[in-house]
Amino acid sequence: MAQTVHYLKDYQAPAHTIRQTDLRFDIGETETTVQARMIVIPKTSAPLVLNGSAELVSLKIDGETINHYSLADDTLTIPDAPSESFVLEVETRIRPYENKSLMGLYGSNGNLYTQCEPEGFRKITYYIDRPDVMSKFTTTIVADKKRYPVLLSNGNKIDSGDLEGGRHWVKWIDPFAKPSYLFALVAGTLALTQSTFTTRGGREVAIEFYTSEADKSKAGFAVESLKNAMRWDEERFGLEYDLDIYMVVAVGDFNMGAMENKGLNIFNTKYVLADSRTATDADFEGIESVIGHEYFHNWTGNRVTCRDWFQLSLKEGLTVFRDQEFSGDRASRAVRRIENVSLLRQLQFAEDAGPMAHPVRPASYEEMNNFYTMTVYEKGAEVVRMYHTLLGEEGFQKGMRLYFKRHDGQAVTCDDFLAAMADANETDLSQFALWYSQAGTPKLEVSSRYDSQRQTLTFNIRQTIPATPDMSDKQPMLIPVKIGLLDRQGKALPFTLSDQADAPSQTETVLVLTQAEQEFVLYRIPEEPVPSLLRGFSAPVYLEYPYSENELNLLAAHDTDAFARWEAMQTLYRRAVSANLAAIEEGTPLPAHNGLIEAFKHMLKQEIDPAFKAVLLQMPSASELWEGSENINPIHYHQAREALLDEIAKQCLESLVYIRTWALEQEALSGIKAPYEYHPQLAGIRSLLAAVRLYTIREEQHGMMNIAAYSDEQNAAHQKTVCARLQDYITRYEQLTPNMTHEMSILHTVNHLNEEGRDLLLNRFAERYADDALVMDKYFMLIGSSWRSDTLVQTQAALNHPKFSLENPNKARALLGSFSRNVPHFHTEDGSGYTFIADKVIEIDSFNPQVAARLVQAFNICNKLESNRRALMQKELSRIRNKEGLSKDVAEIVGKILS
Ligand code: TRP
Ligand code: ZN
Repeated sequence: MAQTVHYLKDYQAPAHTIRQTDLRFDIGETETTVQARMIVIPKTSAPLVLNGSAELVSLKIDGETINHYSLADDTLTIPDAPSESFVLEVETRIRPYENKSLMGLYGSNGNLYTQCEPEGFRKITYYIDRPDVMSKFTTTIVADKKRYPVLLSNGNKIDSGDLEGGRHWVKWIDPFAKPSYLFALVAGTLALTQSTFTTRGGREVAIEFYTSEADKSKAGFAVESLKNAMRWDEERFGLEYDLDIYMVVAVGDFNMGAMENKGLNIFNTKYVLADSRTATDADFEGIESVIGHEYFHNWTGNRVTCRDWFQLSLKEGLTVFRDQEFSGDRASRAVRRIENVSLLRQLQFAEDAGPMAHPVRPASYEEMNNFYTMTVYEKGAEVVRMYHTLLGEEGFQKGMRLYFKRHDGQAVTCDDFLAAMADANETDLSQFALWYSQAGTPKLEVSSRYDSQRQTLTFNIRQTIPATPDMSDKQPMLIPVKIGLLDRQGKALPFTLSDQADAPSQTETVLVLTQAEQEFVLYRIPEEPVPSLLRGFSAPVYLEYPYSENELNLLAAHDTDAFARWEAMQTLYRRAVSANLAAIEEGTPLPAHNGLIEAFKHMLKQEIDPAFKAVLLQMPSASELWEGSENINPIHYHQAREALLDEIAKQCLESLVYIRTWALEQEALSGIKAPYEYHPQLAGIRSLLAAVRLYTIREEQHGMMNIAAYSDEQNAAHQKTVCARLQDYITRYEQLTPNMTHEMSILHTVNHLNEEGRDLLLNRFAERYADDALVMDKYFMLIGSSWRSDTLVQTQAALNHPKFSLENPNKARALLGSFSRNVPHFHTEDGSGYTFIADKVIEIDSFNPQVAARLVQAFNICNKLESNRRALMQKELSRIRNKEGLSKDVAEIVGKILS
């Protein structure tokens, strides 16, 4: 099947716009009829082209039925529509309960919900379904009053009434013009949690959160998060909310995290519902950040939207930057930054080096749903962060103000954003624009020369940008590299940027790279320094510098920049794993890593923020470690990493156990009664505890039940003790303070053990939380991500668990997504892991292409694998490609991997 490719260079302004859209939804038992009445304004003499795939009941222009039209490939063309403004009326019929794609109007748990971004509105009616067509909307909803007491849409509710036969109606008006992708409708039986917020300007905003009745008690934290986000956007960006009501609806069946529909956000339950009994600290943090993200879209996305979908990062990169800043301002800025960088490197760097590589502003796509990517979101946020680094907070805010002044109410491009930033600061950012058009992660090779005579340090920096499938030759980019210097005792070493007498002394600066190779000189440096590079991860690049182990230890122990300090530890881990890998591949004994062990022990003893210590303890994942390599045997990376974890656990057990005890005490002693179920300080202590447990279990488990050393009987007895202890631990802990973070930490800790007791604990967990869908997701995640030998069998069995459903994206992601990232099981030598995932991709694709297309990207690594596994993956990919009726979502991904 030939795929249609859409190109940015082909963009044309719409031939017609829509001034007003009046919708009427008549919700029946199984069918919903939709009447759309639009005022269409012709802009050129081209035929009227509408997007749509719903069953068409009738089509009228200015009251006259139209029979002369063509309908093909979800496109309806009316060749002789009037050349002056006219009224278009479309009636469609849809069956939302049969819609398992979760795009358009769909049923979930007896209620109805919409998801229209990017191109879901066309499943509801025929429309000019593109973001640069902005219209005012009214929505009237008619439904059975008993079954659908709550009827919601965008904007303000202006009228309602009862009808015969137990039916009722509600009418909504959204005063802001918007593209169709921001349309939303919700109908059903829902419980309401209310609050209010008064804006800085004095507007009283009604806050309404809708959940199932059973979940009503779990909305409180999300409500508070929303108010925090509203306050923060006023304080940091000077942006206020603009309607009298803000609604959030939580739904269990949802393709992504949440959706910013004007005035009526729709959220995955995962990002709304929480209490400390059922949600972990990470869940609370996720809620705060996604609630913030969708709220911030009201300005960056809704008030100013995208001209076309190539510009997606205009709203997503900017809004991710804003939600990251919100989280950082709320608590633990340094740790949040490290977490964001870690995610970017693990997932976005891989994307940028694989078959799906694309620039932050893609130049082409087949299926837009495939471009809600780590590159558009996370690298896009890094691009916005670079403006901030280059211009400073004040300059950045100036740019934002000009952006809104120029473009409020418009659909614009990434170039418009860049121009606002440049013009407001009277600076030239034309080279910076390459960040939007060139894919691939730039690599910086840095060297330095110290001249003791002249007391100067000269940096030489070379940048290269790798070829990607879309582009081979690339131009040098503008790259901000924030640096500092340390002396040999680890103290900040001041320097100047020139050798003039009045040059101010400073401890940090941003080197701005513009050329392929460039020199930078720092002056008045009395001793040979250790450079601290790419502080704060000031650009999304790889950086290489020939550090000695001592220098890395120094940076890890003393750097004032948290990111650089963390990075020094990461480099030590990376080097140690590489050495192990070489030994494994050559069949030689594993080397010892005394320098790393020393740094690790020193780090454990330092008095630093527990949350920061927790991230310092975390080793890069196997997939991050193999990034940039060819002929990969994933199992070897897994083993090399495991060996290092074992070695550290063994060498540092005493200090680790000490910290574990300390952390437990601290938590008990803190006396903090979390005001909203969650407290960042306690979360930090608990994350340290969890990180430590993952090491100590390795030693203590061997100590207590060394399978080889004990008889079967002894082994069984020991298993019982260990599990009884853990079980006992959980039970006791729950009596003290019921807390899911601890429970999950313990389950994570035992999850890989090939012991009966592990099953016992997991089963108990699954029984206890059988009725809590979000906790059951955690259970399925544990099953899919275990390194136990029987994980494939257990994962297959879990598909038939009464609480599992392949149609629910959270469940599919929890079980199958985690299996596809489970290195030892996905990459088994016989290819059984590949076959299993390919089967599920095919199955899911028949009803939800969006979810299938995410899952199939586990195969993105195909061409970098060693030849046996590559062949096994290719076989599975061909099998998927040959499937009849394959979605264009999956076809695009598979096509790119195989080409
Ligand atoms: N715009 C949403 C956000 O980032 C995400 C989104 C895009 C989405 N497409 C979707 C959510 C489809 C659910 C389904 O905030
Ligand atoms: Zn978003």
